[in-house]
Amino acid sequence: MYELTIKGVGTFEVEEGTRLVRAIEDCGVDIGHRCGGQASCTTCRVQFAEGEPNVMTKAEHSKLGDIGQRGEMRLACQIVVDRDMTVEPLMTAEDQGWDDAGPEPSITVEPEPDWHPISVLDADEAEE
Ligand code: FES
Repeated sequence: MYELTIKGVGTFEVEEGTRLVRAIEDCGVDIGHRCGGQASCTTCRVQFAEGEPNVMTKAEHSKLGDIGQRGEMRLACQIVVDRDMTVEPLMTAEDQGWDDAGPEPSITVEPEPDWHPISVLDADEAEE
């Protein structure tokens, strides 16, 4: 178990390997997941205060690049809880005025996760 602290909400025990977007929702926050956890909508965006993983799926790296937000935020649907983390969800159904947060993300990370150190993904992209 790891401690997940959600700014302004509290600290919760989370089972290792839980998808972060689902963990945040399980803690009572209506974090966005409008694409159902497919790394395409970016509504599951969070800022890390502590415990940010230094690996990233290729899908997250690509999407954050597309919207010019690398280094500014992470996508909670592309992260599993594997350490203590402190995060701030940046888009919720309530603050966006949505009827619901979106389709339920599956238990496992989708698309099929391809995790690499961020520095490696950056370097690969620079070579392209
Ligand atoms: S990008 Fe849509 S839920 Fe994460």
